[in-house]
This record gives sequence, C-alpha cells and structure tokens, in this order.
Amino acid sequence: MTRTQVAIVGAGPAGLTLGRLLESAGIESVILEARSRAYCEARIRAGVLEQGTVDLLRDAGVGERIDREGLVHHGISLQFDGERHRIPLSDLTGGRSIVVYGQTEVVKDLIAARLESGLPLLFEAEGVSIHDLEAGRPRIRYRHEGAEHELECDVIAGCDGFHGCCRASIPPGVLREFSREYPYGWLGILAEVAPSIDELVYARHERGFALLSLRSPTLSRYYLQCAPDENLDEWPDDRIWEELQLRTGVAGWTLVEGPIVEKGVTGMRSYVCEPMRHGRLFLAGDAAHIVPPTGAKGLNLALHDVRVLAEALIRFNERGDETLLDAYSTECLRRVWRCEHFSWWMTTMLHLPPGADPFELRLQSAQLRYVTTSPAQARALAENYVGLEAV
Ligand code: FAD
Ligand code: PHB
Repeated sequence: MTRTQVAIVGAGPAGLTLGRLLESAGIESVILEARSRAYCEARIRAGVLEQGTVDLLRDAGVGERIDREGLVHHGISLQFDGERHRIPLSDLTGGRSIVVYGQTEVVKDLIAARLESGLPLLFEAEGVSIHDLEAGRPRIRYRHEGAEHELECDVIAGCDGFHGCCRASIPPGVLREFSREYPYGWLGILAEVAPSIDELVYARHERGFALLSLRSPTLSRYYLQCAPDENLDEWPDDRIWEELQLRTGVAGWTLVEGPIVEKGVTGMRSYVCEPMRHGRLFLAGDAAHIVPPTGAKGLNLALHDVRVLAEALIRFNERGDETLLDAYSTECLRRVWRCEHFSWWMTTMLHLPPGADPFELRLQSAQLRYVTTSPAQARALAENYVGLEAV
C-alpha cells in the first residue's frame, strides 16, 4: 500500500498536464498508464492547439519546443463548389491565432518533463480498478511489473480517455449521458512530403469531406470522409491520393503526393456525461466528453478541464476549501457544450450526408456561402475555432 494526494489514471494530454500543474503547486501525484511509453508517444491524433492551450502548456513549463517548432497560423480555408474561401482567423478575433503542433509532440514533451522531475509515472499498469469513491479515502488497485499494488489517495483524476475504467466504475444511475453517433468516419494519413498548403483547408465535396492539414514543413496530415467502419485494406495508397486529388482540387493548385507513413480510420461521435464528478473521482478530457474532430476541439477541451481541476485542487490543498471542487463540473460543462455545438455544426456543414439528401445539401451550401460572405458569421466561426476566452 502506498499513498499520494492525487492519483491520476491515464497519461494522455489531460493526465500528464494535470500532473505537471500539480507539481508546480507542490501537490503529490502518481500517474498510472495502461500502455507503454512508446505507444503513448506514437499515437497520432490532434494537431491544432488553441492559443489558450499553448499558454497553459507554457505556464506548465513545457512550452519551449512548441515555441520553437510550432507553426503559428492566422487563417483557415473552407472549400466548396471548387473554390477556396479564406477565413482570416486573426483579423476576425483581435489578433488571436492557432498553433499547429502534433499531440504526439505535446505528449513527448510532458513525459520527458515528468521523468526529469523524477515523479511517479507508471507505464503498463494493468487491471486498474477503483474503490471507495464515496469515502474520504478512495483507493486504486493495479498490477505493475508482476506485483499487485494498492494506492490510497485524497482524490482520483479520471484522465483515461473514452474507453477507460474511471467513468465505467461510477455506479449506474449516477450519470446522465448525452450522445450522438455520426454516420461518418475519417481516414487519416501522414505523408512524408512538404504540405501543399500554408493553412488548413476544410473541403466539402460531393464525393465526401476532405481535410488538408500538416505536422511540420516536411510532414502532411490529410483526411478523407469514409464510413465509420471503413476497411483500410480497400485503400491502397494510390486510391487515397486519387480521392484526395478529386476532393481537394482547385484551379491553379497542385496537391503534391509522397510516401504514406501512417494510415488509420476513426469513427465520429459526440458524447457528454453529467456531472463530471462522482464523490472523490473527477473526470477530465475524453473520459467525460468526446467531440467529432471537425472543430479541432478535443485536446483543447481536455486541457481546459485540467486547468480548472488543478486550480480547484490547489485551493483544496491550501485551505481544505472544497468550493472550487464542487463547482468543477458546472464550470467545465459550460465550455464542453459550447464546443459540442461548434463541433456538431462544423461536422454537419461539411460532411456528405447519408444518401446525399438534397435538402441537407442545399442547407449546407447556403450555410457555407453565408459563413464565407458575412463577416458576422465568419467571426462566429473564427472565435470558436481559435477558442473563446469567456464561455
Ligand atoms: P487520451 O489522449 O485518450 O488519453 C487517455 C490515456 O489513458 C491513454 O494514454 C490511455 O492509454 C490511458 N488509459 C485508458 N484506459 C486506461 C486504464 N484502464 N488504466 C490506465 N490508463 C488508461 N483534438 C483537438 O483538440 N484538435 C485536433 O486537431 C484533434 N484531432 C483529432 C484527430 C483524430 C483522428 C482523433 C482520433 C482525435 C482528435 N482530437 C483532436 C481529439 C484529441 O486527440 C483527444 O480529445 C485527446 O487525446 C484527449 O486527451 P485525453 O488525455 O483526455 O485522453
Ligand atoms: C489534424 O491536423 O490532425 C487535425 C486538424 C484539424 C482538425 C482535425 C485534425 O479539425
């Protein structure tokens, strides 16, 4: 049996950032992670960081490489009917911007910082289970390097993603769940070729949505709308490039092809559980909510949650005052629902609906025209995309 103040389950962006914020405040934590370090550092996911997210990572002392290697972008484009329309994010939001920097890199920076501080981060922790949540002293049992362990703590932070064990250990009937499955998936590729675009392009096309993104001056990250259960075997590289060419082509521009080094399919869903707390367990990030990736919000929301949680835990630790812990769920859910709406809106505006429903297609065209011609609508998109300051 060991003891700590905060037991953090999951070493994704949420768990690792929380550990770092607590470390700065002198609060002890143990991070338990089911996967290996190599797996966590290789999992390719998000790429767009809001300015507030970058500021938080800087405050947590892991902003140095982002500042050096992150690509600051001041706009994105929406493409439809064969034309690209730029949304000047910074002009529309008083100078705010986004930073393109891979989640893999964020995770590598956070793991390196934690290990350098010599603080407990246990990879390949097996059979993690949670006990006595309603009591003042919750406990976690797990296996590590062949031995059984028990960890007693004041608070558990459930940062273990959508399929983790924390939310699943809350008794039935406690949470209210809200969800929507979309009939879409994204086939994502990473290609070793200089990106053919300077800024992200979200393209709506009659063959389906496509997104042109990037990771670095030499790595392109591109996505194609597909079925949620699409079989990757049916997508040899040639077919992927052909489809990207068709969906993203515009006059006077060329999509340059290169070797594909990674391929994957992700289904799309929206999900929220309320409240994001049960007794001494606090859920953060994907453990409590999922958004479809079209708004680039998942990672940003996860880091917003842990900022609020860290502040609440610091207050609790300093004064035994639980006010902020009690307000945690309500405070986070306001932003969660704003981002749920924005992500749903971007998703439904840009994807080819099932059966190419003509009514929906006309609505999409009307909405895309409106967003790209009305400064008021463009500003609404821009302020959500770069991250609202107050929600
Ligand atoms: P996770 O990253 O899922 O981390 C949870 C961790 O917990 C994992 O390491 C997992 O191994 C571990 N774990 C799970 N179960 C257990 C257990 N039982 N015991 C111990 N550990 C456990 N978001 C954006 O903001 N911008 C984007 O551009 C963007 N693009 C995306 C593109 C794709 C294709 C996908 C799939 C997602 C994208 N997202 C994006 C979403 C973003 O990746 C997630 O929201 C983010 O990873 C959430 O972080 P997290 O720490 O909450 O959860
Ligand atoms: C990415 O680069 O992976 C990315 C960018 C924007 C999104 C989703 C994913 O909306």
